[in-house]
Amino acid sequence: MKKEMQVGIIGYGFMGHWHAEHMPQTKGITVAAVCDVDENKREEASQKGYRSYKDYRELLQDNSVDTVLVSAPNHLHKEMVIEAAKAGKNIICEKPAALNVQEFDEMVRVAGECKVQLEVHQNRRFDADFRCVKEALNNRTLGKVFTIGSRFFGANGLVHDWHRFPEYGGGMIYDWGVHLIDQMLDLNLGKVVSVSANVHNVINPEVDDYFNAMFQFDNGLSYVIETGTYLLYPLPRWYVAGDTGTLIIKSMLDDAELYRSGSHVEKLPDSVLETKAGPTRAMAKRAEEELVKQVLPTGKPEWQMFYENYSAALNGGADLAVTNAQVREVLQLMEAVRLSGRKHASVDLK
Ligand SMILES: NC(=O)c1ccc[n+]([C@@H]2O[C@H](COP(=O)([O-])OP(=O)(O)OC[C@H]3O[C@@H](n4cnc5c(N)ncnc54)[C@H](O)[C@@H]3O)[C@@H](O)[C@H]2O)c1
Repeated sequence: MKKEMQVGIIGYGFMGHWHAEHMPQTKGITVAAVCDVDENKREEASQKGYRSYKDYRELLQDNSVDTVLVSAPNHLHKEMVIEAAKAGKNIICEKPAALNVQEFDEMVRVAGECKVQLEVHQNRRFDADFRCVKEALNNRTLGKVFTIGSRFFGANGLVHDWHRFPEYGGGMIYDWGVHLIDQMLDLNLGKVVSVSANVHNVINPEVDDYFNAMFQFDNGLSYVIETGTYLLYPLPRWYVAGDTGTLIIKSMLDDAELYRSGSHVEKLPDSVLETKAGPTRAMAKRAEEELVKQVLPTGKPEWQMFYENYSAALNGGADLAVTNAQVREVLQLMEAVRLSGRKHASVDLK
């Protein structure tokens, strides 16, 4: 008989609410209990009909809860996941899974010993913009791709709440870097052989609020990830260039734009672009009629797939979509980004 999931959410903040709303949309999943140290959050949870607990260990003793969702601040993930596993609960843990690879290895080891299912919520694999890029790459829509840019910029500057403090696992590498690196690996582009990164505290003295990283692949592809909270004019969310086309997605609100050339370069007459810095032939623009633009709708996010897959895996009907080996690799690359940023030099990963 199919196992139904009775979920207990630990940390009923921004993401705890998100899960409480989205999880029950998957058949067989019920949110039964909530734990938060904040009295107002517990009061709200009780009013919504969830059993509520102040200490997460009390929630772990609730025998009707079989699955725990950890959406507390990052520095608490390791302890909460390990205790949940020891209590025999299956676990979904928010990203970043842990503060480092060592912590994550311990979490995976204990989950394995306790024979519980542990999956990290790397939900941005199910985003509409990312899925559109993935499909274009899988279909070889752009020919041989030589460079990819994945960027996400905020302009408000301030990193919010506990994200401001290193001891809570704050900063942009933990917050967005983890998603953007996970997406890169999920594209199965080859093996990353080196990373060269810049990590900055632009206006937040305690934690990184900007980084860029250039990942080199064994097949020659380069992949740039850049994100920060104080960039006052955004570059496109995605920029993917191949030898038969260029794809951009300006923002996560936009559809994809695919540009192709109407004729091959050999057939074009020489032309000159006059600029304020003088004329150039190499950088001359293609005539409008020589450029074919196609709009590829990015569709809808498929966040529900995560829960459906988790439930199916629990029932032996699927492999987990986000494997612990993949999460480990993401954490390794995050550490390489930090190391490269500290050394002001590239890090060899061969
Ligand atoms: N996957 C995503 O897209 C995504 C988006 C945002 C945040 N997150 C992750 O979700 C987690 C939570 O982030 P958030 O933005 O919801 O933070 P938040 O501050 O909004 O919520 C955290 C909640 O945990 C509670 N809490 C703190 N210590 C606790 C403890 N010891 N026991 C029980 N509750 C405790 C806080 O009171 C708060 O309500 C983080 O790991 C974050 O990285 C993931």
